[in-house]
Amino acid sequence: MIDILYPLVRKCLFQLDPESAHHLSMQGLRLAERSGLLGLMTPSKLQGEAVEVMGLRFPNRIGLAAGLDKEGNTIDALGRLGFGHIEIGTITPKAQPGNPCPRLFRLVDHEAVINRMGFNNSGIDQGILNVLSSHRYQGIVGFNIGKNKMTPNEQAADDYLDCFRKAYPVADYIVINLSSPNTPGLRDLQGAEQSARLLGLLKQEQAKLQLQYGREVPLVFKVAPDLDDGQIRELSRVFLDGGLDGLIATNTTLDRAGVDAHHHAGEAGGLSGVPLMIKSTEVLRAFSSQLSGKIPIIGVGGISTLDDAREKLKAGASLVQIYSSLIYRGPRLVREIARGLTEASIK
Ligand SMILES: Cc1cc2nc3c(=O)[nH]c(=O)nc-3n(C[C@H](O)[C@H](O)[C@H](O)COP(=O)(O)O)c2cc1C
Repeated sequence: MIDILYPLVRKCLFQLDPESAHHLSMQGLRLAERSGLLGLMTPSKLQGEAVEVMGLRFPNRIGLAAGLDKEGNTIDALGRLGFGHIEIGTITPKAQPGNPCPRLFRLVDHEAVINRMGFNNSGIDQGILNVLSSHRYQGIVGFNIGKNKMTPNEQAADDYLDCFRKAYPVADYIVINLSSPNTPGLRDLQGAEQSARLLGLLKQEQAKLQLQYGREVPLVFKVAPDLDDGQIRELSRVFLDGGLDGLIATNTTLDRAGVDAHHHAGEAGGLSGVPLMIKSTEVLRAFSSQLSGKIPIIGVGGISTLDDAREKLKAGASLVQIYSSLIYRGPRLVREIARGLTEASIK
């Protein structure tokens, strides 16, 4: 039912500016979920084949990428669309407004998005309250955490540790976002020295929290697609030596290849959607070959069909995530990928 309605919904939403359309659709989803309407329009159970990754049982291989539900206040409704996991955030220690508007642009012909949101969010404490009040979602919930804009890079570790400690009792896995292009200097934390130090501190904290709470919450890093082979080799060594539990490849790109003639191409920010697929998958494949299956990878960037999702798995991913194609193709894609990514189909 929801699939039949989506083309009409999309037509209406695309009349609005992208950020208003985002807020309206999230509000609409929450309302439809609470009223029971969304339940009538979607299957009652999560579809697909369950898989174990990072010691967690994911009900299927498709997840929602970070950035759509930054606050974690729409988990139950988004879960209804069929996602086996939902990554909320990026959340920072303190609330912050993000960059001035406009900061979100559609490149419709390319099924792409440019964003420079800049981690607008209500802060980790509110994020935790929101997650605790979502009771109906049966899948896995990841927390994606970042540093506040005003925190200098030398103190970034304090921001990550603060969010890590607070999220630990509530999260199924925690992602350290080092790869947003919209927080000045953030990507510098992907340097071998900085990331090794941060990983060491977080692993120490994880060991302490594991004793305290009696369970290990996997620690995951999310990387950019704008890394060269040398950086990928160095980072892979850091991740293997440091005992990283999982990797997300990739975030958005600064590259404008393939969209450079578009009138929004000059907007500052990260590009996502279809034009990101090839580059992001190459980076995933390069990490996978360096990590030799020792660290599981979640593949994200440019997936807009079931075949794209299969390609991510062939390149070395265990799970996939989407964001931009949910806007362009609608929720039908989520169930199509959930059902299509079975063990048998990817051999
Ligand atoms: C509007 C927007 C906001 C995003 N915000 C975040 C974020 O806060 N944290 C993060 O790690 N990634 C963020 N992302 C990146 C996505 O999680 C994903 O890595 C990227 O969009 C590539 O996937 P896609 O091509 O399926 O959209 C954002 C993407 C978009 C389009």
